[in-house]
Amino acid sequence: MTNKDTKYTEEDLRSMSNEELAELGTELDDVTVAYRKERFPLDNDPEEKRASFSVGVWLTIGILAGLAFLGVYLFWPWQYQMKGDENFWYHTLYTPLLGVTAGLSVLSLGFAIIQYVKRIIPEEISVQRRHDGPSDEVDRRTLTALLNDSWKTSTLGRRKTLQGLLGGAGVLAGLVVIAPLGGAIKNPWKVRHELDYSGDGTLWTSGWTMHDKGVKLYLARDTGTIAEEHSDSVGSGYTTQGVTRLVRVRPEDLAAGGMETVFPLAEDHVNDGDRYDPQADVYEEHMHSIHGNRNAVMLIRLRHQDAEKAIERQGQEDFHHGDYYAFSKICTHIGCPTSLYEQQTNRILCPCHQSQFDALQYGKPVFGPAARALPQLPITVDDEGFLVAQGNFIEPVGPAFWERES
Ligand code: FES
Repeated sequence: MTNKDTKYTEEDLRSMSNEELAELGTELDDVTVAYRKERFPLDNDPEEKRASFSVGVWLTIGILAGLAFLGVYLFWPWQYQMKGDENFWYHTLYTPLLGVTAGLSVLSLGFAIIQYVKRIIPEEISVQRRHDGPSDEVDRRTLTALLNDSWKTSTLGRRKTLQGLLGGAGVLAGLVVIAPLGGAIKNPWKVRHELDYSGDGTLWTSGWTMHDKGVKLYLARDTGTIAEEHSDSVGSGYTTQGVTRLVRVRPEDLAAGGMETVFPLAEDHVNDGDRYDPQADVYEEHMHSIHGNRNAVMLIRLRHQDAEKAIERQGQEDFHHGDYYAFSKICTHIGCPTSLYEQQTNRILCPCHQSQFDALQYGKPVFGPAARALPQLPITVDDEGFLVAQGNFIEPVGPAFWERES
């Protein structure tokens, strides 16, 4: 018989059984068991088998859903497909299938645990009085005993099948959460493909890097034009033929104090003005340019009186064209689009964490967490009067990373 007022020695504690320690722990914690009822007082109760079966079913569903998630994640065709492409429906099912299988895996595990607690573990209502102060040795030992006792009370120790299923479902639910992180692990030094509008796969290249390979790059604005739907005897579909998404920009397209987001447009993919060809299909290339991670550039036309006060960074003195300045739109803090240009103060604001950059001082950060200037793109105007890049960025675009020098 245990008593909470007795002073127990190390010897006493060692000689006590787990049940006695658990009972003592309950007393010491001022816990009163108000009600307790075994779920299955008799052996071989058919209800126990049914409860156990039901928990097993949920755990099995959880395991199957976890396996299905991993299967979809690893093997389902996920690459982007246009409407009308052969694998379009497979592609559209990818995300819903991931959601359904991941949700089912975690939910099933949850249902199994609820079922177990509600149908197998003895019903009990306990009331505890709260008290202050740190726990002494007796409390710690008895708490351990209580936890051991809970394991015994749960009867999970003798339910080997459920143990296995619970372990399997738990591991798979964990994998469902962890596996997608694998997709985020990439070697930033690895050249993954030929240089194009998305760079070559390394962190320091972008569509503008194509200039280094002798490609003439225009500064082009996104018109937002989309593929056109058409119907014929075979059915309906979309065509991008003759659809121009990016058009070249001239200096006079921008009012003083204005800002325009522009993207690189290679000479071969121009399809506007007097070079418009209704048969040309350059929509895909235009979309690649717009989607290139580090391509977006803010073309700013300073008011002339402000431009006269502009301070150029050493080595970038000829990067602007008159009153026109082009800065990377990718914030040097953690990469949000710094879209807000305020012409009265000539500040560029990043809405994510309120970094501010001074357009009159080569995009230098003047407020907020960003620590580096926005990279400036060297620009000029070609013989036809269009704004073009006169070089690539001279530093990597976007947030700081371990290899950059500026
Ligand atoms: S990403 Fe621009 S301030 Fe944080």
